[in-house]
Amino acid sequence: MSLAYKFQETLMTVDDAKALSPEDTLTLFKTHINPNLGKLMDMLGFARMLPVRARGTKLYLQDGTEILDMSGHLGVMNVGHNHPRILKVRREWAEQEQLEFWKFHPSPYHAVLSHNLSQIFPDDLQVVFFCNSGAEANEGAMKMAEKYAGNGRDLIVYTDISFHGKTHATLSVSGSEKHQNKHFKQIPGCVMIPYGDSDALEKTILEHKDRMSKTKVCAFIVEAIRTEGVVIPPQGYLQEVRRICNKYDVLLILDEVYAGFGRTGKMFAFQHENITPDICSFSKAFGGGKGTFAGFITRPHIFRKAYGKINEATLHSSTYNGYGEEVISAIEAINILHDEQLVENSATLGEYFLARLKELQIKHPIITYVNGKGLLLCIRFENTAYKAAKLIPGIPEEMLAKLTTGGIITELYEKHHILIQTPPHDSNQLLISPPLTLTKDEVDSFISALDEVMKMNIVEVALKYIKRFLNQR
Ligand SMILES: Cc1ncc(COP(=O)(O)O)c(C=O)c1O
Repeated sequence: MSLAYKFQETLMTVDDAKALSPEDTLTLFKTHINPNLGKLMDMLGFARMLPVRARGTKLYLQDGTEILDMSGHLGVMNVGHNHPRILKVRREWAEQEQLEFWKFHPSPYHAVLSHNLSQIFPDDLQVVFFCNSGAEANEGAMKMAEKYAGNGRDLIVYTDISFHGKTHATLSVSGSEKHQNKHFKQIPGCVMIPYGDSDALEKTILEHKDRMSKTKVCAFIVEAIRTEGVVIPPQGYLQEVRRICNKYDVLLILDEVYAGFGRTGKMFAFQHENITPDICSFSKAFGGGKGTFAGFITRPHIFRKAYGKINEATLHSSTYNGYGEEVISAIEAINILHDEQLVENSATLGEYFLARLKELQIKHPIITYVNGKGLLLCIRFENTAYKAAKLIPGIPEEMLAKLTTGGIITELYEKHHILIQTPPHDSNQLLISPPLTLTKDEVDSFISALDEVMKMNIVEVALKYIKRFLNQR
């Protein structure tokens, strides 16, 4: 393989990056970043032609192909790619040469953003901590709960189907990361219970007591709607969880990293059950698709008890707690959600989308499950190609599990120009989380594309995908 730039200059420039061919890009990616991830991207057809532009629900490839983004890039793009209002504030910010890194002066932009958050979160949720990623937000939330409880009350209860991040502590409370948790040590003091089972929560709180008969549990961390599979707990579950947490002074941490900012048809998924958490973490769509930004919000009395002393002002902190451009993107993103009524669109279009998926399910028995809430939807397939492909030697078990969905994703992408993802913990599933700016026409074109793919011989579709694996460079 010839790498045109490799031996000409030691350092490459942004212009070099713009001119890099897809092939050379993949080579550098595989060499310096992650060879197997590069392989997977290539197998799915994503590495053959690269996006040169993104706007709204669409990506545009080097050859002019228009791709409909039904993944919302892991649920980050709630207001769509490169929303013009966000581009405008960022352009002005750069032109004015504003201070990017507000560390020594109180930032008016942080001030406005935290005010806005206190407006969209219910009750007295109004003290915010800003950071960089969902995992970091959950890590900070759990630390705050431990500090708030004090007196050695440091047990965290989590659920068996859950994902809260990939740092050591967040992995330790991520029940769906069974595979990962085999490789890395679990931090002590994490107790797993079944998702949706409030009796198990109370039982666990009562089982773990100190000598003074006070529970050692300081917090319960959970997603109001489990993203993958769109698992909606039984009606009343969160209300009951809220009651139990109040009774034993256990802090309720709700993880809205994926579900937040309108994804499920409410601003936050916990609002489907009309409760208020004690701490709520958020990220992904928070930065408006332009800033890598996250945070958590809590009640004043919790913050005061945890970090209220002057010498504790930076007990929990981070160098990067929101660069200026991230902060203004987040301010603008919340305003866009409001002005363009995107949460409402998520609710109404989500219902229509789910109904159409259910129609497809009746038509195609290979679809074994569909579910959705707002514009968070999923489809599960029977892995029809599994048995056939098992006869081909040299295919890892993990690949076999991804066979049907891998084939369907590739077919949707290459023939119908639709980008969709399978979530990390369930290979038989497509997770749909498009920008909330999605239109009814776009739903209809997705449904007819999927219908077309479902009409194909899925075993052949999957085997075509496997051939790509066997032919990998
Ligand atoms: C519900 C949930 N919590 C936490 C995280 C971790 O966020 P990050 O990848 O930004 O660390 C994710 C990421 O997918 C998530 O979906």
